[in-house]
Amino acid sequence: MTAALANDFPSAVVIAPCERGGGIVLRLLNGWPLFWLLSALLLVMALAFLTAVGFDTQGYRLIIRATARTSLGLFLVAFVASAVLNHWPGAFARWLVRNRRAFGLAFAMSHAVHLSAIVVFARTDWATFWSLSSTGAIVAGSIAYVVIGLLASTSFDPVVRWLGARRWKQLHRFGLWFVWLFFVFTNAKRIPGSSWYVLPVTLLIAAMIFRLQHARPRRARVSPPASS
Ligand code: HEM
Repeated sequence: MTAALANDFPSAVVIAPCERGGGIVLRLLNGWPLFWLLSALLLVMALAFLTAVGFDTQGYRLIIRATARTSLGLFLVAFVASAVLNHWPGAFARWLVRNRRAFGLAFAMSHAVHLSAIVVFARTDWATFWSLSSTGAIVAGSIAYVVIGLLASTSFDPVVRWLGARRWKQLHRFGLWFVWLFFVFTNAKRIPGSSWYVLPVTLLIAAMIFRLQHARPRRARVSPPASS
């Protein structure tokens, strides 16, 4: 595997001996335990909203809005992880990159909750659902879900090996940019209704610039040869 591919391939980040093992907290914040922790937090959040607001239209809509935001946060972490490592190499950046898969899968989980709430909402209150949605939005959203499903299902080592590094990287690069664009679109279209949506759009554009600027590791600064 080339150095460039190693930069993005799931299991390619070397874990320094001092970062291995550790206590229960450290183990909980790495790999699959981190994914399950994030997923549990998402489910607890959804249940808390339903308990506080009700198992009704308002409760389901709250979950839809909240999971759109948790999905964005988790997506952005996975989206900029490599760029953070390239720009600020250090223990935190290595942890981010090492756990990019956990954040990516938690993003997919968050979107699975988004979809579940949408289905329950549509079945509970068909008229309100259609007042907020359209056939075009559902077709576009369904395509986005296919892409998210592809990203999630190809995030497991045996599938990664089966695909090969080059195809895996092409698929994930395409998928990440597609989801990025979809987030920009779904947030930007709401700006006329509320200027609050400028914030997520600004975050997405800042993340894009940061990722593009730091796509490669910083070259070691070499002092110019002393002139004789
Ligand atoms: C078939 C697929 C989808 C449907 C039917 C759908 C439906 C909805 C509905 C009805 C809302 C408004 C909820 C409310 O105002 O009470 C909403 C919000 C939202 N959705 Fe989805 N969605 C889908 C997929 C997606 C995907 C794939 C993304 C992003 C990748 C996304 C991002 C958002 C965002 C950003 C919001 C705004 C949340 C906020 O107010 O902060 N949606 N969605």
